Amino acid sequence: MVGGKVLAPMVEDFLKKVTATEPSYPDIEFPQGWPDSLLRRYKENGRMLFAALGIGREDREKREHHRLNMFRLFGAPQAVYLHQDRTLSPYSIFDAGLLAQNIALLAAEKGIGTCFLAVSVLYPAVIRQYTGIPETDRILIGLGVGYPDGDAPINQFRSEREPVKTIVKWVG
Ligand SMILES: Cc1cc2nc3c(=O)[nH]c(=O)nc-3n(C[C@H](O)[C@H](O)[C@H](O)COP(=O)(O)O)c2cc1C
Repeated sequence: MVGGKVLAPMVEDFLKKVTATEPSYPDIEFPQGWPDSLLRRYKENGRMLFAALGIGREDREKREHHRLNMFRLFGAPQAVYLHQDRTLSPYSIFDAGLLAQNIALLAAEKGIGTCFLAVSVLYPAVIRQYTGIPETDRILIGLGVGYPDGDAPINQFRSEREPVKTIVKWVG
C-alpha cells in the first residue's frame, strides 16, 4: 500500500516516462491483441466512456488529458500494488486476481473506491525505486484507492454488461 507522500512523486516520475514515450517493460506480458468479439466490446466501451465524458473523437487534447489522468491513477490519494515471487507459475496470477477483487469489494463495503489500473505497472523500476519491492517479485497490477468523487462525470459512467445467457451455458 503506497500512501500519498510517496505516491505523488512516484506518479510524477512515472508520468515523465510516459510523456517521454519511453518504451514500457511490464513484469508480466500485456495483451498483444484481442479476439474480434472482445475487441468490439473494448472499442465500444471506450466510445461510450468518451461520449459520457463529452470528449469528441477528434478532440486529441482532451483524449490525451484522459490518458495522462489514467497514469495519475485518476487522482487517487493512495494505491495498492500486487506483487508475487517470480518463481511462482503464471497460474498464481489467478490467486492475485482473487485478492484484487476481495480488496475492491471490501473497500466498497466501507465506501472506499478502487480502480484496477494495468497502466500503473508499465514501468516497474519506478515502483521498485519508491517501494522497495524486490526484483525477485513480479509486479502485477496497481489499484488506485480513495473516496470516490460522486460528482465527477467519469463516476457517472456505467459500462454495459454482456447478458448472462451469452456467457453461460447451462447443461443439464
Ligand atoms: C485487470 C484490469 C486492468 C485494468 N486496467 C485499466 C487501465 O489500465 N486503465 C483504465 O482506464 N482502466 C483499466 N481497467 C478498467 C477499470 O478498472 C474499470 O473502470 C473498472 O474495472 C470498472 O469496471 P467496469 O467499468 O466494468 O464496471 C482495468 C480493469 C481490470 C480488471
